[in-house]
This record gives sequence, structure tokens and C-alpha cells, in this order.
Amino acid sequence: MIAGISRIGHIGIRVTNIKRSLDFYKNILGFKLTAYWEDNKQCFVRIDDMHHDIVFFEIDESIDRKDIDQTDTAKRPNTGLDHIAFEIKERQDWLNAIETMKSNGIKFVVPPCVHAYESGFFTEDEAKFYGGAGSHSFYITDPDGNRLEFFWGSMKVTKVSLAAPNPEF
Ligand SMILES: [Fe+2]
Repeated sequence: MIAGISRIGHIGIRVTNIKRSLDFYKNILGFKLTAYWEDNKQCFVRIDDMHHDIVFFEIDESIDRKDIDQTDTAKRPNTGLDHIAFEIKERQDWLNAIETMKSNGIKFVVPPCVHAYESGFFTEDEAKFYGGAGSHSFYITDPDGNRLEFFWGSMKVTKVSLAAPNPEF
């Protein structure tokens, strides 16, 4: 095996309309433009000072947009992307993000929730607990149906726990 991978560096997303994606990721989510090669229909955006965190590629003009599945990725009957999660460091910013979604008319595919026992998702009959880092999350989809999660407050894995029963160190 290889060693030294430190984190996921960036993601590449193929989109149906790069300008529409750019508008959404910049104006709603606050990403900053690094480069947009209009002739190549390729665009780099970033969160902070890393050159890019997301690359968008617009699919070829020859492909009919009508044939493309733009439903919620988490509900598509195929393999590949389920969702992409973005961490928000401050609770107040996470709360504000909820209001931003509402004021822009963006629908939650999963409304604000807690990934934990204390969420209220689990009834007495359904006590088996899968995952759940204690993070506060909500989910939306981008203009192409890619499911995006925004979370605050995920736990770390430092020992065996109910939420991390098989950790390797
Ligand atoms: Fe997630």
C-alpha cells in the first residue's frame, strides 16, 4: 500500500451548465473563483487559499441534457457519488447557513438534524445505531442534483466507541 495521503484534496464534478453551477457555488455557498476557461468549459473554485477545492467540467455539447439524470445523487439507482460534505467550523455560521438556504428558496433534502442517538431519529424499536459522529447537518442538492451536506461538530476517533466500533490506528 502507499503511505502519506493526508486528506481528500479536491473533487471534480461534471455539470450540465457550468455558469449555473458557478453562480450557485459562488453566490450561495461562498466559493471563490480561481480560474474559468470558458472556451474549455472548465472552472476551478476554492474555499480559502488552496488553488482549488472543486473543479467543474461542463459535459460536451453533443450530449442531450434531457437524457441526464439530475435527481438527488443519493437516490439514483447507480454507483458513484452519494454526497459531498463541507464542514462549517463555527456553530453560528452553520445556523446562519440554514437561514441562507431558506432565504434563497433552497429546499432541504434532509433538514437540519443531529447524527446521533440524541437526534430523535431512533425509536426504542429501532435502537441499533449506525455511524453518527454527533455532527449537526443539513443536506441540499446543487443544480445538477449532487447531494451536499453541511455539518458542524463532528467527533474525532481516538478510541473505540459506540459511534466508532472498529477503529484502526
Ligand atoms: Fe455525510
